[in-house]
Order: sequence, then C-alpha cells, then structure tokens
Amino acid sequence: MPPTLRSYEPHDFATLYKLDQACFPPGISYSKTTLRYFLTLASADCVVAEEARRIVGFIVSEENPPLAHIISLDVDAKHRRLGVGTMLLEKLESNLAARGVRSILLETAIDNEAAVAFWKAHGYRIEATLKRYYLGRIDAYEMRKILPGTAHKTGTRSGEAS
Ligand SMILES: CC(C)(COP(=O)(O)OP(=O)(O)OC[C@H]1O[C@@H](n2cnc3c(N)ncnc32)[C@H](O)[C@@H]1OP(=O)(O)O)[C@@H](O)C(=O)NCCC(=O)NCCS
Repeated sequence: MPPTLRSYEPHDFATLYKLDQACFPPGISYSKTTLRYFLTLASADCVVAEEARRIVGFIVSEENPPLAHIISLDVDAKHRRLGVGTMLLEKLESNLAARGVRSILLETAIDNEAAVAFWKAHGYRIEATLKRYYLGRIDAYEMRKILPGTAHKTGTRSGEAS
C-alpha cells in the first residue's frame, strides 16, 4: 500500500522530532524548540506521509509568496527509495503553487549525496555554495526551483531573495 498524505497535527510533534533526530547528525538535526518554532509559524506548511498509521516521512516549509523555503524533508531510513520523498515534495509544491508561490529555495549539505541527487532529480538547481553553513564547518548548497508554468513571472521584483 502506498503511503497516504495528510497535514501535520500537533499530536505528531514527538514523532516528527524523533524522525528528524534519526535523519540528521547531531547539530544539524533540529532541537525541539527550533522544530516547534517552524511547525507553528503561521506561514508554515507541513505534510506527513503515513503507512499503516505510522508516520514514515514529513516535509515542512515556510512561505511568503512568491517565495517559499523548504525547512526540512525527512524520510524514515527503512522507507527510502520508494517514492515517499517525491510524494511529499509534489504535494507541498502543489499546495505552495496554489497559494501563489513561484520560487522555492532550500539549503542542503554538499556532502549529503542522497539529498543533492533527490533535489536535482526534482528540478532544483544549485545557486550558491554557502561556506561553513552547518556547524561552522560543513558547506551547503543553496538550491532553487522555479515552479513550472511560472517562470515568466519571476525576475528582479523587489523583496524576492536573489
Ligand atoms: C533525501 C531523502 C528525503 C529522499 O527521500 P526518498 O523517499 O528516499 O526519495 P525518493 O524515493 O522519492 O527518490 C526520488 C529520486 O531521488 C533520487 N535519490 C533519492 N535518494 C537517492 C540516493 N540515496 N542516491 C541517489 N539518488 C537518490 C533518485 O533520483 C530517486 O529516484 P529513483 O529512486 O527512481 O532513482 C531521504 O534520503 C532522506 O530522508 N534523507 C535524510 C534526510 C535528508 O537528507 N533530507 C534532505 C535534506 S535537505
């Protein structure tokens, strides 16, 4: 059975925190305070994937249309390469597009080969290398996707991050 998608609910918090701790090394995974901060932003969207009523992945973003920022995408290690990340990302992109988002930014560690391959496979392009972005020593790529069908509307509009 493919996973089902739904919106985050506050009772999911402990599971999402545990998953994030398992997905990222210490110092890159979020503290409870930081994760709660992002999840409770009025501008946040968080989609979770469930299989047999167990959460197997989630994605969280914040938005200020026409720009949005992906904060995290986490898939349980036993459920990777099965399309869960893709399902979550496609649902989020569709939610964001419906609210006027045209450009999505994210950061990922340059040594996170799975993530860099995943984002590239989904049309995200490297825009910059952010030196010592994680833990003061690990470089990150800043990656961006212009959502399909909206490229003509983007440009040098003030307020949009370059
Ligand atoms: C990155 C991550 C979210 C991918 O989730 P996933 O559910 O495994 O991704 P999908 O199955 O939808 O993969 C889609 C495509 O992405 C690419 N991809 C995903 N994982 C990959 C890997 N380990 N190596 C190479 N390419 C990979 C492939 O093109 C893949 O298509 P394919 O399986 O048909 O070859 C997952 O590995 C993860 O949670 N990692 C730990 C947390 C993390 O790094 N998050 C992203 C940080 S910004």
